[in-house]
Amino acid sequence: MPSPSELLADIRRVGRDRERGGYSRHVFERCELELREWFVEQAARRGLEVLPDGNGNIWAWWPAPGDGAVATGSHLDSVPGGGEFDGPLGVVSALCAVDRLRAEGFRPRRPLALVVFAEEEGGRFGVPCLGSGLATGTVAPERALALRDESGTSLAEAMRAAGVDPERAGPDRTNLPRVARFVELHVEQGRGLAHRQRPLGVASTILAHGRWRFRFTGQGNHAGATPLDDRRDPMLPASLLVSEARRTAARYDDARATVGRIRPVPSGTNVIAASVDLWLDARAHSDADTRGMVEELRHRAEALAAEEGCAVRLSEESYSDTVSFDGPLRDELTGMLAAPELPTGAGHDAGVLAARIPTGMLFVRNPTGVSHAPEEHAEPADCDAGAEALATVLRRWSR
Ligand code: GLV
Ligand code: MN
Ligand code: MN
Ligand code: MN
Repeated sequence: MPSPSELLADIRRVGRDRERGGYSRHVFERCELELREWFVEQAARRGLEVLPDGNGNIWAWWPAPGDGAVATGSHLDSVPGGGEFDGPLGVVSALCAVDRLRAEGFRPRRPLALVVFAEEEGGRFGVPCLGSGLATGTVAPERALALRDESGTSLAEAMRAAGVDPERAGPDRTNLPRVARFVELHVEQGRGLAHRQRPLGVASTILAHGRWRFRFTGQGNHAGATPLDDRRDPMLPASLLVSEARRTAARYDDARATVGRIRPVPSGTNVIAASVDLWLDARAHSDADTRGMVEELRHRAEALAAEEGCAVRLSEESYSDTVSFDGPLRDELTGMLAAPELPTGAGHDAGVLAARIPTGMLFVRNPTGVSHAPEEHAEPADCDAGAEALATVLRRWSR
């Protein structure tokens, strides 16, 4: 029976990013497809029945006669240069939990399902939790299929190339309706458990969060031949907005605003850009605070653009309101596992499912507190404790 760390060692072979450090595994690209194949093979080895849905999510079923299935899973895609655990830990822990139950001869009364969701990070098509969003009907298929990656490939094209029929994209009428409870195990993306000196936690809430694109447009021109007072340089308002984002977020209660991605076009050292796209990731405890920050930044962006003779357009790329995980389930999980509750600022497929299905989340201690970066970590013993806890939950809920 392999440990979570042993299964993670399999996954580590795939998608190492030598340039950025960490791992880059984008949905429906070679590395992510390789990991999907790995998962399908692992599921088949355990006698699970693999059933892909129409959205690129993969379900693996342990059948049982009863209704009200119990599902668990996470994702195999990553952010650019991401850590080893965000996503894969939930997938390998699910496999390990099944191993534990099989080893003790457990026979579930309710079906159990393991699931791998597609494009959780939004690292390729810009919208996070796309697979779970499509499956739950939170994201419209027409909109999703038209999304394009940096190279101009649409989601529909990427799906087709990966052998997933985009015509079938949309609400999942096969797998999800069977699920009565969902639980996702995830590496913690902060130091909450490390501070408490506890290996495991239970998620209480997720911050409201979204992504917005500011497109500044000016006049592309020659870096040497254009006097300073004759420029309309969109890089100027864009760069000033980066510090405005930090200042604005600091005025709200425990809010976050990040610019982690910026794209000047055409992007040449001796070229004044013609346009600059800047992506804002904003998160706060309430919808009002999150939207309030973005609104303030829109006004600032307009003023900064005008000062430089530029224009700016804002578009919302994704949004998810505050999630408060199911109260009775939280109580049950904290009691069952003697684990503390903690909130998170990170988005998860479990947050999307929580709107439809009673859902809980388990966190495994991350001693560095770092995530979305190569320094993300979880000790093997804590990963074992996580898989054991997940087995406990699946056993209890599927009885
Ligand atoms: C996904 O991990 C997110 O919260 O951005
Ligand atoms: Mn992530
Ligand atoms: Mn994740
Ligand atoms: Mn996430």
